[in-house]
Amino acid sequence: MKRRDLLKAGAVGAAAMLMPKVVRAQCDPTSADIEGPFYTPNAPTRNVIKPEAAFARTLFLTGTVYYRDCDVPVANAQLDVWQADENGAYDNVGFNYRGTFTADDMGNYSLETVLPGKYLNGSQFRPRHIHLKINAPDGPILTTQLYFAGDEHIPVDPWASEAEEGRVIPLTNGDGGARHGVFNISLRDEAPTTSVQQGHVKGDARIVAINPQPLGAEGVILLSLKRAANIELRVFDVVGQRHMSTPPAWYNAGQHKIRLNNRDEQGLKLNAGVYILQAVFNGMVVDAKRFLIN
Ligand SMILES: [Fe+2]
Repeated sequence: MKRRDLLKAGAVGAAAMLMPKVVRAQCDPTSADIEGPFYTPNAPTRNVIKPEAAFARTLFLTGTVYYRDCDVPVANAQLDVWQADENGAYDNVGFNYRGTFTADDMGNYSLETVLPGKYLNGSQFRPRHIHLKINAPDGPILTTQLYFAGDEHIPVDPWASEAEEGRVIPLTNGDGGARHGVFNISLRDEAPTTSVQQGHVKGDARIVAINPQPLGAEGVILLSLKRAANIELRVFDVVGQRHMSTPPAWYNAGQHKIRLNNRDEQGLKLNAGVYILQAVFNGMVVDAKRFLIN
């Protein structure tokens, strides 16, 4: 078998370990945060909210919306996003830095914006943040805010200081000066018991987690299979260039750990940024998750 450096494909069949007990992603529903005074309903349908004329560095935000089990994705989750511009100003007349959009049928979404600036709330700056409303179709709306790791105003902000770790995300510098971040969301809704996940091939293989994030020299994919299959794993960048793929290998049903590192098939370290891991189940792409390399 050809040596594969990023994903130890040689180890896919042989060293993928059946885990001693069921592994669940560390799971807490995403908590709510205040709506604040600057929400405007009926924002345009778009996931590129950075205006064309804006000069600030682009921030690519991606993630997956899950049900409360942090495992089953919410198909076609709805997102409504608003934020200040890079100088900390909201557009309360028009719809700059505002947009509504729908995640795909695997719960994956992407947003193109800029890092929001800070603004004064009384005598104190609020930390940089992005407001979101997220819901499963016809489900209750979660209103929350996203913060950025290392912001010195988080500890002194009455709302940000209450945010759990999952709402304070690290950013990675990517190509062309862009920043990348991953924000996964777990709604409080229970996963439906009868859905496309049940009996559908998409539910037969699930990338449960990719840890750690950002990925360093060593990491692990947790893969869950409802039935045995030939599995291939592929890594793409956000513009669709493939950097790695494993030859299909047979896996039994159950939970598997598969090693992952930050190198391509030639052994070269991948550039910092967001990548997409695809799980291919008997020749069909059945799950995809984004992960960060720094
Ligand atoms: Fe705000």
